[in-house]
Amino acid sequence: MAEANGSAPAANGRAYPFIDHTFDVVVVGAGGAGLRAALGASQGGLKTACITKVFPTRSHTVAAQGGISAALGNMGEDDWRFHMYDTVKGSDWLGDQDAIEYLVRHAPAAVYELEHFGVPFSRTEAGKIYQRPFGGMTTHYGKGIAQRTCAAADRTGHAILHTLYGQSLRHSCEFFIEYFAIDLIMEDGACRGVVALCLDDGTIHRFRAAKTILATGGYGRAYFSATSAHTCTGDGGGMVLRAGLPLQDMEFVQFHPTGIYGAGCLITEGARGEGGYLTNSAGERFMERYAPSAKDLASRDVVSRAMTMEIREGRGVGKNKDHIFLHLDHLDPALLAERLPGISESAKIFAGVDLTKEPIPVLPTVHYNMGGIPTNYHGEVLTKVGGDPDTVVPGLMAVGEAACVSVHGANRLGSNSLTDLVVFGRAAALRALETVKPGEKQAEFAKDAGDAALARFDRLRYASGPTPTAALRLNMQKVMQSNCAVFRTGEVLDEGHDLIHKVWKSADDVGVSDRSLIWNSDLIETLEFENLIVQAVATMDSAQRRQESRGAHAREDFPNRDDVNWMKHSLAFVDAEAKTVTLDDRPVHTYTMSNDIAYIEPKARVY
Ligand code: FUM
Repeated sequence: MAEANGSAPAANGRAYPFIDHTFDVVVVGAGGAGLRAALGASQGGLKTACITKVFPTRSHTVAAQGGISAALGNMGEDDWRFHMYDTVKGSDWLGDQDAIEYLVRHAPAAVYELEHFGVPFSRTEAGKIYQRPFGGMTTHYGKGIAQRTCAAADRTGHAILHTLYGQSLRHSCEFFIEYFAIDLIMEDGACRGVVALCLDDGTIHRFRAAKTILATGGYGRAYFSATSAHTCTGDGGGMVLRAGLPLQDMEFVQFHPTGIYGAGCLITEGARGEGGYLTNSAGERFMERYAPSAKDLASRDVVSRAMTMEIREGRGVGKNKDHIFLHLDHLDPALLAERLPGISESAKIFAGVDLTKEPIPVLPTVHYNMGGIPTNYHGEVLTKVGGDPDTVVPGLMAVGEAACVSVHGANRLGSNSLTDLVVFGRAAALRALETVKPGEKQAEFAKDAGDAALARFDRLRYASGPTPTAALRLNMQKVMQSNCAVFRTGEVLDEGHDLIHKVWKSADDVGVSDRSLIWNSDLIETLEFENLIVQAVATMDSAQRRQESRGAHAREDFPNRDDVNWMKHSLAFVDAEAKTVTLDDRPVHTYTMSNDIAYIEPKARVY
């Protein structure tokens, strides 16, 4: 229930009356992770709100296609230890092994839970959940190919999101739909809640909570071409940086091998899991050269690099020889209709291709941020204070792509993302239930709580500079696309650093033309741009600093992984006022969660 506090004028002198709310838990974001956290907290009796800038079932999880990984063993032998080995190896030994063990051990139960909630998984003849092979998923520690990715045709995220939204409503989670979170309310180093704008009527709300859980997704839209929705503007990451907290491993940006050429829409890795393959201009299945054993199902970093090499060396297809073909035209049309109906439609709409007859033009496209808000495996946000790199920030949690727990390390395996969402969404809810008493009295807000957020909001609302937000955003996206791409060199990154800092500085000249408070997309896009640009500079500067190649970070001038000097997480603190970035690091967790599996030692990468 709203508690009116009259009309407290903002420090900036223009009155924005606050509407105050108190909850035990406030979740920001209603994708898979946010909904799973909100569902768990409300189910356990905590008064829970979920704030979301889009209608829940329009969150980006809806676009997840191929599936969710879990060692169920429905389609052949499997074991959580094999899943753990693959995830550690896929992460190129940057993943925290305690968190990875937590992920893979809880994955099967999480999938069965989704099944019982009502997710309409595809089925085997025997009626079990259907599982397809995905890149980098093996049995017996690299020896066989695992069928581990549980699928609802190629609309798995859609099915999960709708189911979780229904379940959250069933457990009386309160939704604040089309509310844009502006900033965290921090007091003495603890998070007390969040300030948000109701897009529909322009009212400003302060949400007070014992726990604020950020589930705001990735920041793919810092790049020009991304499979991410236009709403993927990393709002949680922006809020965290402005609160003086670090982001972790930002240089690790995943390119999905098969975005549709030109449009960027995703063609699921499940397409290759079902037997699809890539060819160059000579019609050659070139992945056999780059990854003789895994071939087209090597991990995404490997396939994206191989495709880029083919194009660079003049073996791309098309008039400009600037993309690659993905073939499904050899597969039974009935199988395509049953298992891959969504991409059959996408290929038709966005590439004009009937995939039963012709190959799809594809290109590596930005898809996922391995980096994000550092957390432990309970979802508690971490910062580095003094010598302690694992200092918990009271009151603040993060889950899903917004977070860096870190189970994906330097490179995420396909279908480990949906698992991450539901396993750690649930873990965060469990932690909240352990640490918060339902209805526990919370301290009053400090007198000026939320004023800093409003001052920033007001500054942008009345910004009258010469440069529209769209122009700034395009400049940022082009720099990121050209200077922080699949392959990187010191020279390209040095130039990228100068260019992206220039874009950041030029943001002082932003002009917002619409001054209204109701459905002001100009203002919202400006707030989103402010979130994106700080993460873009953190990404570029972290990439410039890391002098090795690991996972998705491929430095041509430092082609090898360097475990002696660089087996550590990067931390980036950004001062948005002074426009400076401070880089630091924290150790990788080289221990497991239990004694059931030993730490997996680094190995050379062989595919
Ligand atoms: O290819 C895909 O279906 C994407 C899956 C993922 O990123 O996990």
